[in-house]
Amino acid sequence: MLITGFLSSCVNQYYAKVRFESNRIVVPLNEFYILKNGEKKSRKFVLARIEKLSFPVCIFKLGENEYSALYMECSHNSCELNPNGDYLICPCHGSEFDRKGKVQNPPAEKDLFRFKVTSDEENIYVQVA
Ligand code: FES
Repeated sequence: MLITGFLSSCVNQYYAKVRFESNRIVVPLNEFYILKNGEKKSRKFVLARIEKLSFPVCIFKLGENEYSALYMECSHNSCELNPNGDYLICPCHGSEFDRKGKVQNPPAEKDLFRFKVTSDEENIYVQVA
């Protein structure tokens, strides 16, 4: 079932075309790539939004086959975080989190919720429940 997906007007905030099945968000690996001037470039992260979750999930590419999937709800007071390069930043009080969801700047004290992620040669699977 196709849940959602659209190309944001801002290249830095790309919502991947994902589907939800067996309690997993399925993200095709090719969602991490863009063709620019005939050259294949890798995105640092993609966003995924599904109806089941109140906040989007930010999926960072950490390495060749390594990903982190972070719930974009600030651990301080539940504002929706904004991705900014290698960080997620809270527009409410300025907390910052790294690509693994670790707090880098207060007032948040708790790390972000991190989903379990697996992958194969075609997809990334974010375990939601
Ligand atoms: S809600 Fe995010 S820093 Fe306060």
